[in-house]
Amino acid sequence: MSAPAIAKPNVAAKNFSQLAGFWDTPIGKKAVMAVTGVILFGFVVGHMLGNLQIFLGAEKLDAYAALLHSMPGVLWMARLVLLGSVGLHILAAVQLTLQSWEARPRGYVKKEPVAATYAGRTMRWSGPIIAAFVVYHLLHFTFGAAHPDFQPSKVYQNVVTGFQVWPVSLFYIVAMVLLGFHLQHGLWSMFQSLGFSHPRYTPKLKQFATVFATVIVAGNCSIPIAVLAGLVK
Ligand code: HEM
Repeated sequence: MSAPAIAKPNVAAKNFSQLAGFWDTPIGKKAVMAVTGVILFGFVVGHMLGNLQIFLGAEKLDAYAALLHSMPGVLWMARLVLLGSVGLHILAAVQLTLQSWEARPRGYVKKEPVAATYAGRTMRWSGPIIAAFVVYHLLHFTFGAAHPDFQPSKVYQNVVTGFQVWPVSLFYIVAMVLLGFHLQHGLWSMFQSLGFSHPRYTPKLKQFATVFATVIVAGNCSIPIAVLAGLVK
């Protein structure tokens, strides 16, 4: 007589429900924000270093763009990871914000610490503005729909003619400063979510976040400024 079949627990279903349970907790959402934030930081740094090649001339920048486009598999993989990270980052941020509003006591005014509200407020409005900037930016330099004279694959020329329109350059500069605030507070809250809070390291981490954000703002803003100043033409 054969032994009765023992029902094996479905490991995949169990793992999935554990993952869903983790996502449902505030710490789970903060962890997702931290991981996707690191991926997005990586993109912002890499993208800035790539774009700074504009100072090396049209040939260098256009060759760099051509190299990226010559590897469609890698490019699309990176785009999917980026898109997934942006989606999860925004979803977790929206859900955490809604949860914090629901948890807010009603009936009397409760003052949160000034630093916490300042950081929270900055993230909540700089985030949506950066998302709107990215949509405009794609229409400007990737699809060309918002560009006065878009030439496919002529990245250097597109950047120069795009930034010669001063209100556009001004908009980029304002968006980059907001991005700087977002990166600084984002890095700082990520360190706190990961538990890096220590009297000895806290000031160093704050300094690191400020220096990192300032370098990104300066690097990105140098491009429209150089075009407007006629240094890159
Ligand atoms: C002054 C600063 C910036 C300049 C000059 C710049 C320039 C460009 C250019 C020329 C492209 C098109 C590249 C190509 O088609 O080969 C591009 C694409 C893109 N940029 Fe920027 N960018 C800047 C800042 C940013 C920032 C701050 C973000 C994100 C927060 C960003 C996100 C993107 C994305 C997502 C793409 C599409 C990449 C793809 O093809 O998948 N850019 N950028």
